[in-house]
Amino acid sequence: MAQKNGRSIPLEDKIFGISRLANEMIAEKGKESVINATIGALLDDQGELVVLSSVVDVLKNLAPADYAAYAPIGGTAEFKDSIKKAAFGKYEPKCFTEAVATPGGTGAIRNTISNYSQVGDQILTSDWYWANYSSIAGELGRGSVTFELFDDQGHFNIGSLQKQVRSLLDKQESLVLIINTPAHNPTGYSLTLEDWDDVLSVLQAEAKGDKKIALLVDVAYIDFAGDSNEYRAFLPKLENLPANILPIISYSTSKTFTLYGMRCGAMICMTPVKSIAEEFLRVCQFSSRASWSNCNRAAMVVLAKIYEDPALLSKVDEERDFYRELLVKRGKAFEEEAAKAGLKMVPFDAGFFASIPCKDPDAVCKNLQKEGIFAVPLAKGLRVSIASINENQCRLLPAKIVEALG
Ligand SMILES: Cc1ncc(COP(=O)(O)O)c(C=O)c1O
Repeated sequence: MAQKNGRSIPLEDKIFGISRLANEMIAEKGKESVINATIGALLDDQGELVVLSSVVDVLKNLAPADYAAYAPIGGTAEFKDSIKKAAFGKYEPKCFTEAVATPGGTGAIRNTISNYSQVGDQILTSDWYWANYSSIAGELGRGSVTFELFDDQGHFNIGSLQKQVRSLLDKQESLVLIINTPAHNPTGYSLTLEDWDDVLSVLQAEAKGDKKIALLVDVAYIDFAGDSNEYRAFLPKLENLPANILPIISYSTSKTFTLYGMRCGAMICMTPVKSIAEEFLRVCQFSSRASWSNCNRAAMVVLAKIYEDPALLSKVDEERDFYRELLVKRGKAFEEEAAKAGLKMVPFDAGFFASIPCKDPDAVCKNLQKEGIFAVPLAKGLRVSIASINENQCRLLPAKIVEALG
């Protein structure tokens, strides 16, 4: 009965499908026999979801009206203030910023594509990418193309980015470019400040005349990368770009506040032109109204309460710091063992995931499954979630992957 409308819809989501196989093996052989490195959430060393208790305490003490009432389409005023503080940290932008509430980063990606590209356009992202970018583009009647994230030396491939931006702007009036950094999903790469300078020079060189670029910076993992200020050091570079290049920050409470299921985030624009910020607010709120209407009010109130109470904010930050360190240690353990085992990784910095380049990723993943190890096959390799396995398992995995590569 269903209409395809140009989309290719698989029978089952790949990641959830493999996770299901892992759970079936757990049911059959027990938890100890399985390493499930497919899950995109931070689990503790016992395999339980990490939930920040300081955030849960706030949630449990909400008044009925905090969760029963509708929120304004763009989010409550207190939420908008709080989410900007959360996204920008100590940095205070010297440009116009507007925030619109979205159901997680996913909603920010959706609204950016729907408002800053035309039906039939191609959006651009890197060849290692979160698959949902192309799904959202397809859902909205757009396509997606990629640039190569790395050159032969494993550096950010600015030449490939320039080539694709030029080729797309030859054909289109506008371009949505999605860059996921720091702690990129699926590689764990973080753009350096030099990479950022290169990216911004390319965009300024290629956005000629009436051409327009929306630069969507997906910072879903920013608070699990490492030092919060260091990883925000690129933000000032975005504050005074020419008017036809619009940076939009996609910020999510899913990972940062462990509110994955509460579906709360925001899209935040940064522009030197007031009317562009006002237009952003108007068009993005329109899209929200026409897709999910308003977002989860309870999550908005939780965030506002955290940011109005400095002691509570410190408590939340400290609790997160503990788990961030745990994750950083896991990443280091995986890198160390990969080096010992001679396993080539895609350049990794931090975050929930690491990737291994290989030919025939499906076959490698099947080999691993025979050993009770579950990872996600991508177009150019496999993705290992170091967020969902403990340090011992991180140490064990690289040698096992070398075996599975054959
Ligand atoms: C790269 C990336 N961006 C955005 C998201 C969006 O997550 P959410 O919609 O829960 O904020 C995810 C979630 O897995 C992700 O991996």
